[in-house]
Amino acid sequence: MALNLNLAGFSREYLIGIPELDEQHENFFTMLDRIAEVAPDLYRPLAEEDVDALVDVVAELREYALLHFRTEEGYMKEAGYPGLGEQKKAHNRFITDVIRMEGDLLNGLTIPPIKVRNFMHDWYREHILTLDRQFGEFQKGNKA
Ligand SMILES: [Fe+2]
Ligand SMILES: [Fe+2]
Repeated sequence: MALNLNLAGFSREYLIGIPELDEQHENFFTMLDRIAEVAPDLYRPLAEEDVDALVDVVAELREYALLHFRTEEGYMKEAGYPGLGEQKKAHNRFITDVIRMEGDLLNGLTIPPIKVRNFMHDWYREHILTLDRQFGEFQKGNKA
C-alpha cells in the first residue's frame, strides 16, 4: 500500500495578506496534490508511461513560478521593498532548479517523485513561510 505522505495543505498560516499572492500561493499546493495523484508511491521511480505526467506537473510548476514571481516582484518593487534583491535571487534559483529537473526528466533520467515533492516542500517552508511572509509583514506595516 502506498503511504500517503502528502501532509501539507494550504492553511491560514500561509496567508501573507495580499489576496492576489495568497491565491497564487494556494495554487502551489494544488500542484503538490497533483504530484501525489501522478505518483501514489513517491519513492518508486515512475514507469515510463507515467513520467510524462510528472513532466507535465514540473512544466506547470515552471509556468506557475514565472507568473508568480513576476507578480510578487511587481508588488515588492511598487512597495520599495528592501528585500527585493534577496527575493529575486531565491526566485531565480528556484526557476533554474525547476528547469534542470524538467530537462533531466525529458532526457530520460529517472527521478523518484519524492525528490520533486521534497523540492516543493523545501520551497514553501524556506520561502513562502519565511521570506514571503516577511514581505506581508512589511506591507502591513506600510498600511498601518
Ligand atoms: Fe511567493
Ligand atoms: Fe517569493
